[in-house]
Amino acid sequence: MSDYYLKCAIYFCCFIYFMCTIDDRVTRVAWLNRSTILYAGNDKWSIDPRVIILVNTPTQYSIMIQNVDVYDEGPYTCSVQTDNHPKTSRVHLIVQVPPQIMNISSDITVNEGSSVTLLCLAIGRPEPTVTWRHLSVKGQGFVSEDEYLEISDIKRDQSGEYECSALNDVAAPDVRKVKITVNYPPYISKAKNTGVSVGQKGILSCEASAVPMAEFQWFKEDTRLATGLDGVRIENKGRISTLTFFNVSEKDYGNYTCVATNKLGNTNASITLYGECRTPGWPGAVIDGVNSASRALACLWLSGTLFAHFFIKF
Ligand SMILES: *[C@@H]1O[C@H](CO)[C@@H](O)[C@H](O)[C@H]1NC(C)=O
Ligand SMILES: *[C@@H]1O[C@H](CO)[C@@H](O)[C@H](O)[C@H]1NC(C)=O
Ligand SMILES: *[C@@H]1O[C@H](CO)[C@@H](O)[C@H](O)[C@H]1NC(C)=O
Ligand SMILES: *[C@@H]1O[C@H](CO)[C@@H](O)[C@H](O)[C@H]1NC(C)=O
Ligand SMILES: *[C@@H]1O[C@H](CO)[C@@H](O)[C@H](O)[C@H]1NC(C)=O
Repeated sequence: MSDYYLKCAIYFCCFIYFMCTIDDRVTRVAWLNRSTILYAGNDKWSIDPRVIILVNTPTQYSIMIQNVDVYDEGPYTCSVQTDNHPKTSRVHLIVQVPPQIMNISSDITVNEGSSVTLLCLAIGRPEPTVTWRHLSVKGQGFVSEDEYLEISDIKRDQSGEYECSALNDVAAPDVRKVKITVNYPPYISKAKNTGVSVGQKGILSCEASAVPMAEFQWFKEDTRLATGLDGVRIENKGRISTLTFFNVSEKDYGNYTCVATNKLGNTNASITLYGECRTPGWPGAVIDGVNSASRALACLWLSGTLFAHFFIKF
């Protein structure tokens, strides 16, 4: 008995024919599927329309099975009668099916802290091994060697693309991706105090990471600022919000609050716009002055030290 491997696409594919070499001493011939007769001579016993006879001559007796499927796997026997002696030869049909993912979870959005279960069902013969991998993680990033991927108490860094791969040794693995989006409340990652001298353009910026993207508001004390009022403009570009003063005056100096909000919450940061002293033609220097008089003094003193440096250096 010999094994015959047949590679099939999903459920049906190709045809196969079984050939039996005979000689003129043979009086009766038949092909069997397990113990069921498919054909005996030219007589069809099988009711399966996929089974047809191909050749019945004194030298060869062959049948064909069309659209072979996985259920056809098993032993097939050519049975012949020679000089009243029955003889059989067998072939074992092994049907192989490349891995294919049949059902996979859709992309999903969850809040941080929730539990997520992804599913990836695959068929194939032999039964494929299914693995899940987190693509946003460097290296292999395997997270599950199973059809199910369960993440409890999901964190923001667990968001991203997950790849399900179904593998057997018949053909290339079948691979599909699922995206997990993890919502989390805003977190202000950058809010820098800024120094600007009177009459200059000043920009305060505030950067927040959040999913969904944060919306920003700017306050000075309890007053909400808006574009067009008091010579300021507010611009939001993705994670960053900027508050622009077109022409900074003394009264603009002070603390500003940037509030970042999304549906999961809000957070705020205080940013100071302070006076900066800049001597024309010289590198900028910074004075965090309290009133204009002391700032002016400090500027004077600073210019002096800058000149001193100049003379020492050259
Ligand atoms: C062979 O036998 C199996 C088991 O009875 C059956 O499922 C399959 O359809 C048969 N195939 C053919 C080609 O007769
Ligand atoms: C996929 O699996 C889910 C969960 O088991 C089930 O509800 C759904 O009907 C399946 N879809 C298909 C197309 O098999
Ligand atoms: C800035 O404001 C000052 C005081 O109001 C004014 O004198 C000056 O012309 C303004 N500069 C610009 C560029 O608008
Ligand atoms: C501005 O904010 C700083 C730091 O948050 C604080 O120390 C300071 O008192 C505030 N100044 C005013 C005028 O509110
Ligand atoms: C800023 O956050 C603090 C602490 O969460 C809160 O008490 C305060 O009201 C917030 N300020 C604004 C303007 O939202």
